[in-house]
Amino acid sequence: MVPMKRRKLLPPGSGRTGPSRFPLVVLFLLERRMGASRRAFLSGLGRERGFRVEEEFSGNVTHVISENNDGDEVRVWLDSQVRGQDGTPAHLLDISWYTESLAAGLPVEILDRHQLREQQRSEAEVVMISVSSYACQRRTSLINHNAVLTDALSLLPHNAELNEDEGRGLAFRRAAAVLKFLPEPVTTTTPLRGLPCLGEHSLRVIEDILQDGASREVESTKRSERFKALKVLNGIFGVGVKTADRWIRAGIRYLQPLQGSGETLSRAQRAGLRYYDDLNQPVSRAEADAVGEIVEKAAVSVLPGARMTLIGGFRRGKLTGHDVDFLLTHPEEGREEGLMPKVVSRLESEGFLLYQKTTRNSYLESEDGPARSSSSMDRFQKCFSIFKLSRGEEGGAEQTGNGESLTPSGQEAWRAVRVDLVVSPVSQSAFALLGWTGSKLFEREMRRWARREKAMSLSSHALYDTRQRRYLRASSEEEIFALLGLEFIPPSERNA
Ligand code: UTP
Ligand code: MN
Repeated sequence: MVPMKRRKLLPPGSGRTGPSRFPLVVLFLLERRMGASRRAFLSGLGRERGFRVEEEFSGNVTHVISENNDGDEVRVWLDSQVRGQDGTPAHLLDISWYTESLAAGLPVEILDRHQLREQQRSEAEVVMISVSSYACQRRTSLINHNAVLTDALSLLPHNAELNEDEGRGLAFRRAAAVLKFLPEPVTTTTPLRGLPCLGEHSLRVIEDILQDGASREVESTKRSERFKALKVLNGIFGVGVKTADRWIRAGIRYLQPLQGSGETLSRAQRAGLRYYDDLNQPVSRAEADAVGEIVEKAAVSVLPGARMTLIGGFRRGKLTGHDVDFLLTHPEEGREEGLMPKVVSRLESEGFLLYQKTTRNSYLESEDGPARSSSSMDRFQKCFSIFKLSRGEEGGAEQTGNGESLTPSGQEAWRAVRVDLVVSPVSQSAFALLGWTGSKLFEREMRRWARREKAMSLSSHALYDTRQRRYLRASSEEEIFALLGLEFIPPSERNA
């Protein structure tokens, strides 16, 4: 045994008996499972015989020697170390290669039995080693390799949230978001066990689907009268989960009974019922652009220099949406005040609005204090509306919405489209843009990251640093990510 003191005095990597006889072979003995004293002993032995045995792992190491580890374990360890400068992967070898080489007095040929056996890691498995538990640190494109699984998991939050279990609902959403992110279809649950956000319940659902093609829980949810009714009623604009639940308990399951039930409906709900079929038809990108042209024209005509940006799912590259969202601002702070009512009455006079409800800007930094972090509600001037959009008119801005004719095929010449408008002062517009681009889970996760990891409070209005007790200004999304210590993720990769 080499005494501790003398071992410490050795410069790392130096041989005790002069320079290495095999300069191209750089060895590193893994302490894991071998133990420190045995490692020191074997390292010393090697150096005495002219081998170059390194104390510290570095990119120069060509042979990693381990005892009682399997290849995967060593690979995981190796992946956590610095990479080789030239990128040549080191050999992962069993101790037998080393002892045979010591006996032979030179590096022996590497045979099959010397190599640590590794299971072939797919790209997906490699990704899994480094998945962040925050969706705002993952790049989630629109390509979903696990749609069958995520569709199933996405059904369950409704159930959980109805039972006032928002936490459990969120857990399913987070689990689905992790699956969306994976670069390959999942075929077994084994590699999923190391991933964040995938709890036992989610794993059970996934396992059932992979084994039997379906999950009993999901199927019975889908079949339940309650769920079917919920889907119908929740599909009415202006009807939230709570109202739908109340109606279901009152025995109302479908649209017809609702109309004759004597329930007092809000103005929004009445519009929602009237345009039910249209509003449950996905909005296409072409329709979104047609609405955009109309809105932009109206905005610029009532406020020259006004700027409009498409936000929401379409900004993330989605091909269809349940509505179209736009952000309006003006490069001169303050000029945007009063813009919303003017735009709305312009659109109204042109016959484009079937329904609208406008809320005033109620956000005041001085009064509202630190951005209200937990809530996704913001306090901008907003307009939730239903547009009357001519069919087949991608240049719809030329048209007013006043025509009432049918198309030759007997179809209504227009359709109803849900449109949300937001007006932001330019000083808050980067926050508004970020907050309204979504996805909802991505936003939620950014706020969670800000709160938990940075002691900051993020909203669609501002970013507040609770330690420094001050607002952090930003004029672009890139700056906000940087202030939060996050790598910038473009809209197209925020589809968590
Ligand atoms: P949407 O509900 O429009 O979702 O909210 P989406 O991603 O565009 O997908 P579709 O429309 O279902 O296809 C868009 C973003 O706007 C925010 C949401 O949090 C989401 O990030 N939002 C929406 C608000 O901040 N406040 C609101 O009142 C509405
Ligand atoms: Mn939207």
